[in-house]
This record gives sequence, structure tokens and C-alpha cells, in this order.
Amino acid sequence: AALAADEGPLAGRHVLVTSGPTHEPIDPVRYIANRSSGAQGTAIARALVAQGAQVTFVTGPAAVPPPTGVRLVRVETAIQMRDAVEAALPADAAVFAAAVADWRVAQAATSKMKKDGSGRLPQLSFTENPDILAAVAQRSVGRPRLVIGFAAETDDVLAHATAKRLRKGCDWIVANDVSPGTGIMGGRENAVTLITAAGAETWPRMGKDQVAERLATRIAEALR
Ligand code: CTP
Ligand code: CA
Repeated sequence: AALAADEGPLAGRHVLVTSGPTHEPIDPVRYIANRSSGAQGTAIARALVAQGAQVTFVTGPAAVPPPTGVRLVRVETAIQMRDAVEAALPADAAVFAAAVADWRVAQAATSKMKKDGSGRLPQLSFTENPDILAAVAQRSVGRPRLVIGFAAETDDVLAHATAKRLRKGCDWIVANDVSPGTGIMGGRENAVTLITAAGAETWPRMGKDQVAERLATRIAEALR
């Protein structure tokens, strides 16, 4: 149920949410992207708004429409997302649901790349994007009280996600198994494990909206 801005367990709290993929340009007409739909991040923002939070929603070019009732910041690249996140702080909590491209093309062309008729192939070289979550989680000044990352993994999901929580310095990691066959990437359901300093808690497979509600409730409890 929707609440007025001054009601609900998250009333008066500012929560930052990143969502969607990023697009990294190759030239003016081409880019590198990933399969994130933005569905889980959008559902989380909606659930936070429903609990009364003031939400800044920083989103890459997502397949699903953005939530209503948020302060919406649209970006394309990882660098733009990093800048938008820094500009949105301070926040009480930050949820990093975006699928940020790990690499960008080192020198994106400013002119369209053309076939030159010789059959020669283009060579792309890459550089690593900034880790937006790690930068916020490791801030000595202005760190949100609760910093939450996501870890979409295959193979040993729990081991990867537990290591990722420690490496990045975030408080919680929401881990999921995105192996082919799970139907989670791009699907309506999610099966997650919430990893905190206290351990790992596996939630049953449920709709992305329900995962979002449950996470928003946990965030409200943690900020209380
Ligand atoms: N993340 C981020 N900035 C990046 C990369 C990731 O903010 N440049 C955030 C994601 O939004 C997510 C978390 O970090 O909350 C984990 O992302 P993930 O891609 O799983 O982690 P990586 O450190 O990029 O490791 P991997 O090599 O497994 O992709
Ligand atoms: Ca990554």
C-alpha cells in the first residue's frame, strides 16, 4: 500500500538505489551492454517508497519502466553512474542492484568506425571501470549506515558472494545463482541468499517483488 511521504517504517530515510545495466560506448553508434533488465532494482525502489523512504534511483538503460515516487537519475555509463551516486550522497542506506559493466573501451571512437574494404577487423582494448559499491562502502566520511551489494554468481555462489562482501566492505550481499537454466536473469522470480556479518540466510524462490518487499523490511529494521 502506498503511504504519504511522512509515513511508514522508512519515513525520513534517504535510500540510494542503483539499477539496470550500463552501456559502454565503442563509437557514436555502438556500445557494450549486459543482460540486466533492471527488474530487481526497480522492485526494490518501489518497495522502499511503499515503506515511506525518500529514494534516489540511479538507473542505466533498463528494459523495465522506472518506479514512480523516486528521484530519478538516468545514466548510461559506469562513470556517469559513479558520478550520480557520489552526487546523491549522503544517504542512510544504499542498495547497489545495478549490473555495472566491469570494463569500458579504453578509447571510444568519436567518429563511427567504418569497414575499410580490406576485411581488416577492429581491435578493442579495455580498461576497468570504477567499483562504485566498493568506493561507497569504503568511505571514511559520509558512508551510508547500511551498504548493500548484489552478487550474481554461478558455480560456488555462497563462497564467491561471501568473499565479495569482505572484499568490497559492504554490510550485506544479496547473492543469487544466475546459471543458465535457473531462469533468473531476465525472469520474474529470484532465489537469493542474504549474507551479513552474522551469516547466510537462504530465502525461498519468490517473485522479484516479494524479494524486494522482504529486503525493504529488513532495511527498515536495520535503520530503526
Ligand atoms: N558493482 C559496482 N561497480 C562496479 C561493479 C560492481 O557498484 N564497477 C556492484 C554491483 O552493483 C553489485 C556488486 O558490486 O552490487 C557486485 O557486482 P559483481 O559484478 O558481482 O562484482 P565484481 O566485483 O564486478 O566481480 P565479478 O568479477 O564477479 O563480476
Ligand atoms: Ca562484475
